Amino acid sequence: MTKEKFTVTAALPYANGPLHLGHVAGVYLPSDIFVRFLRMNQHDVAFICGSDEHGAAITLRAKKEGVTPQEIVDKYDGIIGKAFQDFGISFDIYHRTSSEIHHKTAQEFFTVLEEKGHFTKETSEQYYDEEFEQFLADRYITGTCPNCKKENAYGDQCESCGSALSPTDLIDPKSTLSGKTPVMKSTSHWYLPMERHEEWLKEWIKEGKLDGVQQHDPSKWRNQVIGQCMSWIDSGLRPRAMTRDLDWGVKVPIQGADGKVLYVWLDAPIGYISATKQWALDTNKNWEDYWTGDRKLVHFIGKDNIVFHAIIFPILLKAHEGLILPDNVPAYEFLNLEGDKISTSRNWAVWLHEYIASYPDKMDELKYVLTSIAPETKDSEFTWKEYQVRINSELADILGNFINRAMVLTQKYYEGIVPQLGVLTDYDNQVLAEIKAIPERISKLVYAYKLREAQAEAMNLARLGNKYLADQEPWKLIKTDPVRVETIMNIALQITANLSIVLQPFLPATATKISDFLNFSTNDWNEAGNPSLISAGHKTNAPTILFQKIEDEMVEAEVAKLLATKEQNSQEIKSNEKVSFEPQKATATFDDFQKMDIRLGTILEAEKVKKADKLLKLLVDTGIDKRVIVSGIAEHYSPEEIIGKTVTVLMNLAPRTIKGIESQGMILMAENASGELSFMSPEKPFEAGCGIH
Ligand code: MF3
Ligand code: ZN
Repeated sequence: MTKEKFTVTAALPYANGPLHLGHVAGVYLPSDIFVRFLRMNQHDVAFICGSDEHGAAITLRAKKEGVTPQEIVDKYDGIIGKAFQDFGISFDIYHRTSSEIHHKTAQEFFTVLEEKGHFTKETSEQYYDEEFEQFLADRYITGTCPNCKKENAYGDQCESCGSALSPTDLIDPKSTLSGKTPVMKSTSHWYLPMERHEEWLKEWIKEGKLDGVQQHDPSKWRNQVIGQCMSWIDSGLRPRAMTRDLDWGVKVPIQGADGKVLYVWLDAPIGYISATKQWALDTNKNWEDYWTGDRKLVHFIGKDNIVFHAIIFPILLKAHEGLILPDNVPAYEFLNLEGDKISTSRNWAVWLHEYIASYPDKMDELKYVLTSIAPETKDSEFTWKEYQVRINSELADILGNFINRAMVLTQKYYEGIVPQLGVLTDYDNQVLAEIKAIPERISKLVYAYKLREAQAEAMNLARLGNKYLADQEPWKLIKTDPVRVETIMNIALQITANLSIVLQPFLPATATKISDFLNFSTNDWNEAGNPSLISAGHKTNAPTILFQKIEDEMVEAEVAKLLATKEQNSQEIKSNEKVSFEPQKATATFDDFQKMDIRLGTILEAEKVKKADKLLKLLVDTGIDKRVIVSGIAEHYSPEEIIGKTVTVLMNLAPRTIKGIESQGMILMAENASGELSFMSPEKPFEAGCGIH
């Protein structure tokens, strides 16, 4: 494999909340595996990430927590950065878009495009919240998604189906600030006329060609990525505003643009460049080397980021001129949790920093499970039960068991010294051939971004070793054929040494432990596949247990924690319902009110109406007469309990015949949010006939 150059980015997480397992499984872990693999193959790699600290995601969170946006980004940048470090995501730099170098870089980028005539300035009517005196773009406005018809899609994208939207696409739009339907108001912005780029985009996405020159291999792009882009392009590209009326963000670097900032989806991807600049400064490199020439730019993202990375950012990069466009945009689907969509606002998530705090020695266990279920081609699901099963029956029973047997038997039979390889059987030769073949298969899969299968292939080597020992039973043969056992154990140790290499990208801590047991280490992938990695006579160490089994108690405790969240959420929904009464009705004049004759009446008789579950037939003393009223209260009151009650009666409602009975008026009732009814009885013992004014 020739050495290549890669700039690998992982989507900048919004610094508006901690990371959950969905983020990890669908962006950060796969990119980390990919990069670790590239480094082991001596490719020249920069692995870039940082906090995305602008946009409505941040300001709305600040409003909710009652603090400033700066406090929000400082808090979450800290939590996120630390979680990445503790979990072992091997970024070359984790930067921030609130940094000065980023603001400057984004402004320069904008200026270059503005000077080259890539923007148009337009004045248009936009949604505006009169109560909060603010224009409503992006997350400030929600409504029904025109594509999947789910509610609560944002003004810039629908989180359910991942499609990118504009506020005017939303059906029944509402302001996130006031909850009200917005009005239209005019404002000026800089727009990116995307329709100008339609032709080259199509060719570039579908065929991988730019100006006729092959840039990337589109067969390596995921179907979902090409599909989403093409459906967006085919539905017609339109000008998209690149500035916003907000006071949090990168200021528009143009005179007279006060109160305007760059659109977060313009500024954030430029964050990859500014982070590279900072890293280059810190390590004495040239940032341009990482964004120009024959270098492969790879963006790891979630599916809700597709059009931003495969259409909008490429337009900006090309318009800027001289910068490379992505070679691939591996996008991941969503990870669900215990049967439900992960949701930050509903707290339905397993938070990475909490996992780390609870299980500080189980990082590889989580990595293994998340890669096994990575949502590469479709949504997938994390359950604590599966976490337990995969760790116990795969990591512990296969990998852990094999390594332990190989190391312990070597200690026991040879005091840790690697024995000689003797005469080989057919079975031995098959195993040695697999040792060669497996790393090649893993390589192919990793370069094709199939990391889930790649990890499974690495585990196949452990499976092979486990089966080999179980079949050969050296613990029995040691008595009858100790020479044969030497060969078996030599091969088992070669498998172990190969595992210390092929597991490195996926389970780095475990690979290091295996290396320590073997007293052998290399981070050169090219050494994998070698069936004689360690020589006879080499001294190995006594092992420790690699994986503790996950107890039922842990699974039960974690599931209980989630169920408690669910319970709490439904309580909140209930208490919210109580306050969500109907809005006030249209104004009634005093005359309207005067028309109604409302008095106290006493219920004299009550009986159920036949074949009508809800109705009671009442005889009511109204002070001026005794009349029949049919009332829909039978599900709330029994006839017996209401006889003798003094209640409120609307007297002059036009009579109506209900179930063959003429009803002469109506009993007025109060109704709460749960639909319970209550009579409006006088607070003092007033008699039937008293008027109510
Ligand atoms: N913060 C965005 C999100 O979480 C991703 C930004 S990626 C970048 O969806 F390219 F814009 F940086
Ligand atoms: Zn949708």
